[in-house]
Amino acid sequence: MPRMLLVVQDKGGVGKSLVARALAEAVPDSPVIEIDASQRLLELGERVSFFSMRAAREEIERTGGRAARSEFDPIVNAMTRARLPTIVDVGANTSGSLLTLLADLGPDLNAAGVAVGILVLVTAEPGALAEAPKLMVRAKPFATARFLIENRLRGEVEAKLLARIADGAAVTHLAEQVMEERAAELLQAGGLASIPRLDAAKLNEKHGLALGARILRDLTRIRLEAMQAVEPAATWLVG
Ligand SMILES: Nc1ncnc2c1ncn2[C@@H]1O[C@H](COP(=O)(O)OP(=O)(O)OP(=O)(O)O)[C@@H](O)[C@H]1O
Ligand SMILES: [Mg+2]
Repeated sequence: MPRMLLVVQDKGGVGKSLVARALAEAVPDSPVIEIDASQRLLELGERVSFFSMRAAREEIERTGGRAARSEFDPIVNAMTRARLPTIVDVGANTSGSLLTLLADLGPDLNAAGVAVGILVLVTAEPGALAEAPKLMVRAKPFATARFLIENRLRGEVEAKLLARIADGAAVTHLAEQVMEERAAELLQAGGLASIPRLDAAKLNEKHGLALGARILRDLTRIRLEAMQAVEPAATWLVG
């Protein structure tokens, strides 16, 4: 039975795509479903099936009716067609609606042999803190496994609050990654997949040995720490 891991949080910019990329590194042959207004996981090439989602979900919900209900059909169909463990990067403003739909489809998904897990991202921001527990609760009836990553991008979430949000799910942490400006550009351009292929000699030639070595060290550390943060979820995905 193929497992499906949904990386979710309605708040934007909390690290969903970084975490999806870390999962793609940890589970090298897994297909990736990307749901977003525009395609970002370009470095993953043919592994990615991209589904365009209008950014203004609230607008879609307001219009109601058929369009809103059928919005996710191609995604659900792709999920049920999967034959390998699959990573789903659910874009901003989409997670709540998608999980509600999946909760309704729970019995049908089970009948189709799809096991869904969710990985919720939370940061110390009001929007993310408000959404995370809702997503955890919404997924509880149908998710086979639930994971929570505290991304310390905006500082730490208070421990008791974090435990309450987790609601029994496995919690891991990702430290805020401080990096050279050039390292951030390389991360932006090539994701995590390009990091093992970086040429140290070329970096040194271009930036000098000191900066070249720092860039490589920054990127290697970010890739490793992101992969550590997704380890429990990656283990479930291939299980
Ligand atoms: N722990 C961290 N330390 C430093 N930078 C981080 C960390 N987590 C994420 N980032 C950076 O923050 C930016 C936003 O992350 P990302 O694109 O993964 O968020 P997202 O949740 O997918 O956003 P969106 O909702 O727009 O899809 C990226 O540039 C990413 O590399
Ligand atoms: Mg993203």
